[in-house]
Amino acid sequence: MRLSSNESPFGPSPAAMEAAQLALVEGHRYPDDQSVDLRTAVAAHEGVAFDQVAVGTGSAALLMDIIPHVCGDVDDAEVVAFSRSFVVYRLAARNARARYVEVPTAGPATLDRDGYGRDVDALLDHVSDATRVVAIDNPGNPTGAHLTGEQLERLLSALPEHVTVVIDEAYHHFATGQRGYQRVAELSVDHPRLLVLTTFSKAYALAGLRVGAVTGPAELVGPIDGRRTRFNVAVTGQAAAIASLEDAAHLRHTVEGTLEGRARMAAGLQELGVPFTDGLGNFLTLELGAPSPPYVEAYAEHGVGVRPLAPYGMDEQLRVSVGTPSEVGAFLTASAEVLADAPSRLGATAR
Ligand SMILES: Cc1ncc(COP(=O)(O)O)c(C=O)c1O
Repeated sequence: MRLSSNESPFGPSPAAMEAAQLALVEGHRYPDDQSVDLRTAVAAHEGVAFDQVAVGTGSAALLMDIIPHVCGDVDDAEVVAFSRSFVVYRLAARNARARYVEVPTAGPATLDRDGYGRDVDALLDHVSDATRVVAIDNPGNPTGAHLTGEQLERLLSALPEHVTVVIDEAYHHFATGQRGYQRVAELSVDHPRLLVLTTFSKAYALAGLRVGAVTGPAELVGPIDGRRTRFNVAVTGQAAAIASLEDAAHLRHTVEGTLEGRARMAAGLQELGVPFTDGLGNFLTLELGAPSPPYVEAYAEHGVGVRPLAPYGMDEQLRVSVGTPSEVGAFLTASAEVLADAPSRLGATAR
C-alpha cells in the first residue's frame, strides 16, 4: 500500500469518475483552452470573479509559471519560504534563476510537542527589496506545520506591496476549524499581490488527472494564465474537477475518513512512544532518531510504502500519509515492529 504521496485513499467522487468517462468520449477533441466551465465553477466556489481564476495541470505546474513570471523581469530576485517547504517552490525559483531564501523553523517534534513551528517575525526578517515572492504552504508539506489565521493576517498586513505572496492551501480541507487554522478567504486582509493556490489532487482525489487552481487579482492572474501551455488541462480533468466541486457528500466522506485515520495513527504512534508532528495535512511526520533508509525498507517489507525526507534535509524523519481504515491498521501493526528499536522512542513517556 502506498502511504508515501499524500494521495486520498478514498478515491475520486463517483460523479467525477462518470464525468471523466463521458469526457473521454470527446477525447479526440481539444479541451477548452480557457477552461471556462471549470474556472466558472472554481470562481463560484471560492467566491471570486471569473477573471480572478486560472487553472493548470496541478498547482505544481501553476507554481512553475507563477514564480518565473513574478521573478522574470528582475535581476537577483529572491523567493522566500520557510525551510522544509513544498519542494516545488525551490524548483520554480531555480527555473526563475532566483535566489531561494529559507527561513529557519523550530526543530523536530519531541514526545510533548509538534515540530517545525513557523515564526512570522522570522519570515519578515528575511524579506528585503530583492524579495519578489513569499511562498507558504499552509499547512506545510512535509512538516504539517501551519500558521494560524491570526499569524497569517499579521504576516499579510506586514509584507510590502512589491512582494507577491503565494499561500498554498493544498491541504486546507483537512485543516479547517482546527488549532486556529483559517483559509485566506476567511481573513480580513488586503494585500494587492496575494495569490491563493488550491488543488484537486488531495481532498478531491484527482492527483492523477492533474488539476489545480490559483485565485487572486485579475491583473496578476491574467498574465500568469498567459504563460501556461495552451490546451493544458485535459477534457477528463476539467470534467472531473467540476463534478467533484458539486459532490459535497463525497468530499465530506473523504475529509471525515482522513481525520479519523489521522487521529488513529496519532494515537497509535503516541502509544508506541514515537515522537511525531500531528500536522493538519493528510499525513504525519515521524521522528526516528536515526537515518531513515533502513526504516523505509522495513516498512516496505511489511508492504507499506512511506516517504523518506532526505531531499528536505530531514534524514531521520519519515512522512506517512493517512490511508483507508485497513491501511491505517496495517501501518500501525507494522510500526510496532519497525519502530521497536527507533532511538527516538527510547525513554518514551506519554505525550
Ligand atoms: C503543499 C503542496 N502544494 C501543492 C502540491 C501539488 O499538488 P498538485 O498535484 O496540484 O500539483 C502538493 C502536493 O503534494 C503539496 O504538498
